[in-house]
Amino acid sequence: MTDVQKMLSEAFSRAIRESLGEEFAAVDPVIRASTDPAHGDWQANFAMSLAKRIGKPPRVVAETVLSALRLDGIAASTEIAGPGFVNIRLDDALLARLLSELSADPRCGVATADKHDVVAIDYSAPNVAKEMHVGHIRSTIIGDAITRILEFLGHTVLRRNHLGDWGTQFGMLIEHVRDLGWNPAEDHEISDLTSLYKQAKARFDAEPEFAERARNRVVALQAGDTETVAFWKQLIEESKKHFGRIYQQLGVKLTDDDYFGESYYNDMLAPVAEELMASGVAVKSEGALCVFPPGFKGRDGEPVPLIVKKTDGGYGYDATDLAALRHRIKDLDSTRLVYVVGAPQKQHFDMIFAASRLAGWLTDGIVAEHVPFGSILGEDGKMFKTRSGDTISLNVLIDEALKRAYDIVAAKSPNLSEEDKQKVARAIGIGAIKYVDLCNDRIKDYVFSWERMLAFEGNTAPYLQNAYVRICGIFRKAAEAGVVWEGSAVQLSAPEERALVMEMLKFSDVLGQVSRSLEPHRLCTYIYGLASMFHSFYEKCPVMTAPSDQLKRSRLVLCQQVARVLQLGLSLLGIETVEQM
Ligand code: ARG
Repeated sequence: MTDVQKMLSEAFSRAIRESLGEEFAAVDPVIRASTDPAHGDWQANFAMSLAKRIGKPPRVVAETVLSALRLDGIAASTEIAGPGFVNIRLDDALLARLLSELSADPRCGVATADKHDVVAIDYSAPNVAKEMHVGHIRSTIIGDAITRILEFLGHTVLRRNHLGDWGTQFGMLIEHVRDLGWNPAEDHEISDLTSLYKQAKARFDAEPEFAERARNRVVALQAGDTETVAFWKQLIEESKKHFGRIYQQLGVKLTDDDYFGESYYNDMLAPVAEELMASGVAVKSEGALCVFPPGFKGRDGEPVPLIVKKTDGGYGYDATDLAALRHRIKDLDSTRLVYVVGAPQKQHFDMIFAASRLAGWLTDGIVAEHVPFGSILGEDGKMFKTRSGDTISLNVLIDEALKRAYDIVAAKSPNLSEEDKQKVARAIGIGAIKYVDLCNDRIKDYVFSWERMLAFEGNTAPYLQNAYVRICGIFRKAAEAGVVWEGSAVQLSAPEERALVMEMLKFSDVLGQVSRSLEPHRLCTYIYGLASMFHSFYEKCPVMTAPSDQLKRSRLVLCQQVARVLQLGLSLLGIETVEQM
């Protein structure tokens, strides 16, 4: 609830109690922001339901309550409309005061969360020796935005990059690099991790002798053989370098300290299996140790298991996720577990959560959420791929974004220094890649289009970044004209000014919603709406040529607050702003 909503709720509750009697003390006055400014700023919608209870027409009930209502300093007017809505127009002086408060608040009016959570967020999670695919890209960008927002709201956020660094594929990878003449004691620069993987896979499929060696190598790795482990570590280090460069280019918060790969849980697997067996949650089935959480059936109607321990005694993806979840709750004291992983893994996580409930790890008061997302499609509507059918390399994608953004900047602003052109191109190019991934409901697929995402019109990063730049331009003019305005008194009259203030008062609520739904597009929609409102304001309300000096300064304060919300909002999405472009 915003402060205004709270003030109105309290005043209406008091009036209901005083005019209708104590037995109505608990009635919710149903205060909502009005959707149409022509009907006032807020509405109180209590009269219809109360009318039934009292047996009088709603308008009469509303009149009775209004006669006891005291809104001095809050509302300028109230009026009963339609079947009995109460429309409320806020006092301009109140809005002016609230704007001054917002502009003095480093958090732009955003409250910290009432309940503090320790959030373990599992995101990015690429696989060693493989190129990040679309699933990892979206996970990285969406997870990073969620991380920033939850941290800003005061939660403790534990980033868990569940790197795919364990499994049978390492047998063939290690045999292959050994054959290539790698030395376990030396570092090896791998320029092309993917083709290394592809070569190893091709040999595994085609050469029985190689496949045999690869299988033995898996056993050696599991047994901790020194040479094998050294090769394995090299592959991981090389992959981390590769992913680290991408994280840095994208400007996401993930660092080397955030890797808690699958192998991190190796020592926990056997105890977890034992615990699950002892409690009867896991049972032996066809030689394997399995959990059958109720309600999960395969296509054949048979119950599907989570495999805790395979027939050959090995542990896999399911076991690791069970151990990781247990660790995050029992050892890290997490109260909220978030998994930003593509929609195809929904059933996997539903089953992991169900099994963890059976095991007594995931108890009431702890929330576990799978945050799924859809695919990226090419302009042909099919999966986003290169012409030859390969997944698009993130490196290539980033380079192209930077190049295209640079060309746009060079054409638009030839006078910028080379350094500034690069800086702006970075902000726009990376911002566009991220924003396009965040601005739609994440569960939906979206079509990747350079033209659309780099456009300066519409719901795009460049449009929002440009709105910020335009406001910075106003400040430059003010400075040139020697206008001192910071901290000036605010004076509001035009509907566009009032609308902007009302909108900025909602920022805190919007972030609260995003933190609950983990849907960053709600923040995008909000910032885009604010930028569009600013556009209308700027057309109707001259700033530097305002009718009076006082109004000029007041409008500069308003502009500054819009700029601050735009900048903070974009930064919470992981998107940079620049002052000129
Ligand atoms: N590495 C996995 C993949 O590429 C994603 C891991 C997601 N996180 C997890 N805890 N399972 O599909």
